[in-house]
Amino acid sequence: MGNEYVESMFSVKDQVIALTGGGGILCGMMARALAKAGAKVVVIDFVPEQAVKVAEQIKAEGGSALAVAADCLVKDQVERALQQTLDYYGKVDALINGAGGNRKNATTSPDLSFFDLPADTFMSVFELNFKTALVCCQVFGKYMAEQNKGSIINIASINALKPLTNIPAYSAAKSAVKNFTEWLAVHISHNYSPYIRVNAIAPGFYITEQNRYLLTVEGTGEYTPRGHAVLKQTPMHRFGEPEELLSTIFWLLAPGSSFVHGTTTVIDGGFAVFSGV
Ligand SMILES: NC(=O)c1ccc[n+]([C@@H]2O[C@H](COP(=O)([O-])OP(=O)(O)OC[C@H]3O[C@@H](n4cnc5c(N)ncnc54)[C@H](O)[C@@H]3O)[C@@H](O)[C@H]2O)c1
Repeated sequence: MGNEYVESMFSVKDQVIALTGGGGILCGMMARALAKAGAKVVVIDFVPEQAVKVAEQIKAEGGSALAVAADCLVKDQVERALQQTLDYYGKVDALINGAGGNRKNATTSPDLSFFDLPADTFMSVFELNFKTALVCCQVFGKYMAEQNKGSIINIASINALKPLTNIPAYSAAKSAVKNFTEWLAVHISHNYSPYIRVNAIAPGFYITEQNRYLLTVEGTGEYTPRGHAVLKQTPMHRFGEPEELLSTIFWLLAPGSSFVHGTTTVIDGGFAVFSGV
């Protein structure tokens, strides 16, 4: 077996890969890396300028990309995004559901007790993380069922395994994303196709816009007590670099992973397995 065999096992070349939240930090980075490896990427984001910015970066780097503006909470808009993708590229091979995040006003703190947390705010974070994945899995999953092939990667989080303090809505939503990934993997195989795979990743701590206010002190870059607590609980004693998610994404999308189904891969420097002692 030579290099060619290994390369074909892991190749994403010419795969059409749609990423929701593609204008964001993690999925924007994934989109650029996948395009560099020869994939055609569809950058779907609620904020049109962010989708365009990532797509333009990819094109400037010699890759192929399409920017699509869509609110992934709204089925019509996701259906339109799928149609735009098919009009432009003629097919979709994979979907990465990255739209999501936490919000400060759904985070308990000395100023906002759990008892005063507005249910609507809680549910808006739950929907941002869970409903976006649900709606996109319905729309793109239906297309994949008709094509008898495809791959879906949902983005959960380590708090899907064990809830983190202060962020009840985000924890509940990511836990639901993991559970739903497992349910859908079984359902889609039983009812539609053995050639469609559904998996999730559970990233640990990477400092990005959604958690910077929790982990670092504004203006100083110093870690907050929560930031220090995360480092203490992480055996590798550091935060992750977003690029450290990429090899798992490539592996899950790879043709050689055709039997990897229903999994949630944790990428957290050991945070989830450390007992603290
Ligand atoms: N940053 C971390 O440490 C971390 C850890 C675990 C999981 N995650 C998850 O990874 C994913 C990406 O996180 P990120 O840090 O890059 O966040 P980000 O805020 O940089 O990116 C999220 C993107 O989603 C888009 N978006 C929001 N609502 C949308 C909607 N309704 N429809 C379409 N797009 C929408 C935003 O415009 C943004 O571009 C999220 O699901 C997040 O929960 C992040």
